[in-house]
Amino acid sequence: MIRIAVCGAMGKMGKEVCQAVTDCPDTELTAKIDIASESMYHTIEEAHRVEDIDVLIDFTQPASIFENAKFCLNNGIKIVIGTTGLTDEQINELENLSKEKSTGCFIAPNFSTGAVLMMMFSKLAAKYFDNAEIVEFHHNQKKDAPSGTAIKTANLMAEAKSDFTKGNCPEKETIEGSRGGTSYSNIHIHSVRMPGYIASQEVILGSSGQIMTIRHDTMDRKCYMQGVLLAVKYVYNKNSFVYGLENIL
Ligand SMILES: NC(=O)c1ccc[n+]([C@@H]2O[C@H](COP(=O)([O-])OP(=O)(O)OC[C@H]3O[C@@H](n4cnc5c(N)ncnc54)[C@H](O)[C@@H]3O)[C@@H](O)[C@H]2O)c1
Repeated sequence: MIRIAVCGAMGKMGKEVCQAVTDCPDTELTAKIDIASESMYHTIEEAHRVEDIDVLIDFTQPASIFENAKFCLNNGIKIVIGTTGLTDEQINELENLSKEKSTGCFIAPNFSTGAVLMMMFSKLAAKYFDNAEIVEFHHNQKKDAPSGTAIKTANLMAEAKSDFTKGNCPEKETIEGSRGGTSYSNIHIHSVRMPGYIASQEVILGSSGQIMTIRHDTMDRKCYMQGVLLAVKYVYNKNSFVYGLENIL
């Protein structure tokens, strides 16, 4: 049984993680941590003094994750990090510390297995198609466009092929923006904002005589739990440093 502490246990992701850890037959929820709760531990230091913890799962906020992660690695607690916002320098430092202490550390900006597979499939397919467009759909409270997932997808596809849309006729937009934003390798990205969507994305690939669409829809936060549990088992058994869920799928 893997003994788990969840940091950020009161948050939207933390609550789902606590439920997933409780429901999973291989994991046991030994500590809940959240600064905003009266009934939970407030810090990992506090929980570590009282409980035996094999793996900490952190879904908190950028300001606290780096210190939490260093404390864990310095104290032999393996860590799974879902919190976004770590800088490249911080990620490098955590990688070095994880290796120095031989303590597992798994960081993934996206734990949704479906979304990560969509990116992997798109990269795999890219070199067989001449045209590629990405349409991403999000709720209307999202501030940035295009989404990080759309940018990462285009980036991965560009690694596989550098000249999409070659051979198209010269285009003229009569309404500016109609063709979306053009990103790496001429992949056009279109961002739809609509109340009701959570996060969806379509990658449309075309070549002579065929069109292939790869689509992923997020229905709720449960979509992240399979990836989080895979990461927990990975760090527990392999005890290594991993950045990105795609590396273990
Ligand atoms: N990797 C992924 O797949 C993925 C998916 C969704 C969200 N996220 C990220 O997860 C993080 C949390 O998202 P959320 O929507 O659950 O946010 P949230 O605001 O609902 O929850 C965060 C919780 O962390 C607690 N917290 C903050 N600082 C703390 C600290 N120092 N110690 C203990 N508890 C602390 C807060 O009190 C809160 O309850 C964000 O960084 C978000 O971007 C990642």
